[in-house]
Formats: sequence, structure tokens, C-alpha cells
Amino acid sequence: MPDLEYLSGFDNEHQTEAVAGALPIGQFSPQRHPLGLYTEQLSTTAFTAPGHLNRRTWCYRIQPSVSQSGFKPWNNHRIESAPISEICPHQPLRWSPYPGPTEVLDFVDSLHTIVANGDVKTQTGLAVHLYHCSKAMGARYFYTADGELLFVPVAGQMLINTELGKLLIEPGEIAVIPRGIKFKADPITSSCNGYICENYGAPLTLPERGPVGANGFANQRDFQYPVAAFEAGSNQVELIAKYSGELYFATMDHSPLNVVAWTGNSAPYKYNLSRFNAMNSVSFDHPDPSIFTVLTSPSALPGIANLDFVIFPPRWSVAEHTFRPPWYHRNVMSEFMGLVTGQYDAKKAGFEPGGMSLHNSMTPHGPESAVFESGTSAELKPEKIDNTLAFMFESRYGFVPTSSAANSPQLQPDYDQCWAGLEPHFNR
Ligand code: FE2
Repeated sequence: MPDLEYLSGFDNEHQTEAVAGALPIGQFSPQRHPLGLYTEQLSTTAFTAPGHLNRRTWCYRIQPSVSQSGFKPWNNHRIESAPISEICPHQPLRWSPYPGPTEVLDFVDSLHTIVANGDVKTQTGLAVHLYHCSKAMGARYFYTADGELLFVPVAGQMLINTELGKLLIEPGEIAVIPRGIKFKADPITSSCNGYICENYGAPLTLPERGPVGANGFANQRDFQYPVAAFEAGSNQVELIAKYSGELYFATMDHSPLNVVAWTGNSAPYKYNLSRFNAMNSVSFDHPDPSIFTVLTSPSALPGIANLDFVIFPPRWSVAEHTFRPPWYHRNVMSEFMGLVTGQYDAKKAGFEPGGMSLHNSMTPHGPESAVFESGTSAELKPEKIDNTLAFMFESRYGFVPTSSAANSPQLQPDYDQCWAGLEPHFNR
């Protein structure tokens, strides 16, 4: 496993050069670059976005991105975008883990879409894809202009070579690649699989900490950004691009990963979820799960997210005279869940690592019958909820499964039977 160097600090104005002198000092765009590089700005928020939301990066590269041209439609894929012309279900859905592909696939060929919401053309909502790859991309590169990509690995180690440098991720970590950044993602282990959230909306940022104060939850210092690295020379490569829900490919005579130096705050990053400083009740009652929000993509309405990325990490449960599992719930927001490892505390069976569940707006959900029984009878001593990592993509927009996901053999026809044993206990 390669030992990579990283820069630390969420949303910092990072700067890094792979060759001494490649990063101009004192200005962004000199008349002539001292090493003959091209200057290119990447804006992932509008020029006029407020300062605390503004994201952009200056790249110093061997050839500019305009050298990529001649894109042709590419239809040999299973990637879909919102809006999806299927029914938005008003019933709880759950999928067992998908088996690995029967073919040897690289990252891009292995991508397939499970759900999407909002509208990719208006930069609202998101899509959830799965990947399961067992070979490197070689001379293929990929980017999506439709959103930033949040990787949630379930198994295997993956090296992500991006325009701005390299990230190595494994289960328990996440990576985020901003909209438009070109990359290739290669398994380091024999195969790797996981979830990808393609966030069409505003870039993910840290949630407000409110009365918790200056520290806690995901701390800025624990986010790691790559140092500059580049591929030089001439060779025939293929660049696959996603834009407005369609995919295209072009051939080029050089690698698009040709950025020798960069400075800015819009760059790929990774984060180890074990660094998340979880807060919980030390008196009574189960807090709202928003207390476990790692990153949020705000919508135009304050506090109503396009996407909240929420985790359910190992933690202590100590609440007194309290039903400790998650409560029964109906939510205006829509909840898509996945599991990286272990067991989720509202479900004992049927929700496995790599599996998924979907509870759209106002779809009732909550602990299965067996968990209700144990939750109402357990001795309430301090308990470590351990060896588990579940997560949720929560959104203001209802998720629509793709046709392939809605007709998949992994869709569990009897999911709602997990609540069948909830008999009345009313005893006035
Ligand atoms: Fe919920």
C-alpha cells in the first residue's frame, strides 16, 4: 500500500507543487509561466458566491483542458441521472448486497445507478451509484460535470489518481472529488466495491456546530488533500465525461492528469470516519440523527439539505429511562441508507454490508419487531455500540430507483414484514 503525503484542513487555501518553481508567487496568472506551464482556473462555485462558500482552484498544467475535444456519445454504460422516469415509491424498500460482477471490470465500467432524485439539469438532488471493480483503468480517465463524487468504500483499497494528486482510500474512509475533476480510480487489492453519491447540488461542507462550539463532529484538521502529482509525455488515452446526464468519450494524445502545481480550496479530499467526534445524549432520549452529520450540501432553504451525509459510528449508549434504538419515524426528508460494516442498531437481520434501504418522504420506518422487544426490556446500563458503520444520504428530494434497481433480485420483497410482529400493548 503506497505511503502518500497529504495536506490537511477542510476548505483551506492549499498550495502544492510537484516541481520546484511551478507555483507562481504573488499572483495567479503571470504573463509567461516560468516553467512554460499553462494557467487554468477551475471554478466549482459561481465567481460571485459569498466568500465562505466560494470554491476555486488555480492549476498550472502541461496543456490546458481545452486540448480535450472531439467528444462523441458513449452509451456503453449503466450510469443514470435524475429525473428517472420511474415511480417514486411510497413504501419502504431494501436491497440485499449486490453480488460482484461476473466480468473483470474497471471502475467506470462497474458503475451502475440505484436511485436518483432532483434534476441533474438544474443542479439539484443527487444519484447513488455502486462500484465493484477488479482491474485498473489503465489509459482511461473519467470526470463528471454533473456533480461531486462522494466515495463510501465497503471493501478493498483504492488508489484515486486525480488532476490534483493521489488519494488512497479504504473502508472506514470517504473521499470527495469535486465536480469536473478528472481522475482514474484503481483497485489496490484484488477488487474493491462501495457506494458513490453523485451530488448535483452545492459542494459538501461542514455542518454548523451551533452550541457545541468550535470543535467536534468532523473537525477541519482531519480532512486530507493530495499533494500535486502529474503524468507527462505522449500516449493515447481515453477520456470519459458525464455532462447533463449523458456520457461522452474522446481520445487524447496525453494524460489529462498533467497539473504540475495548484493552489486553491476546491480539490479532492479524504476523511477517516473514525476521526468523527460523535456527540450523543448523556441524560435521556435518542437525539435526532442529524447529530451525526459529517458533511452537508445545503439547498436554497436554510437547514433543508440537498444532501446530508450522516454516519452511525461506534459510540456509547448511556441514556437513562429511554428507548435507546432509533425511534419510529416519519420524515419530510427522504432517507437512503447503506452499511459499511457490522450491524445497524434498528435492524438485526436483512440489512447487510453493501445493502441499502430507502424510506422516502413520510414513509414510516423504525426498529423491527425484535429490536422493539429488546429495546423495551433491556437493562439500561452503559453499552458500547461497536464494530458498526452505517450511513445515510438524506435529501429534501424523494429518491427514485432506476428500473434495474426496482427489478433487481436484490430488492427484498418482504422487507416490511420486519415490522409484522408489532402487536398492540395498550393496557388501559
Ligand atoms: Fe428516519
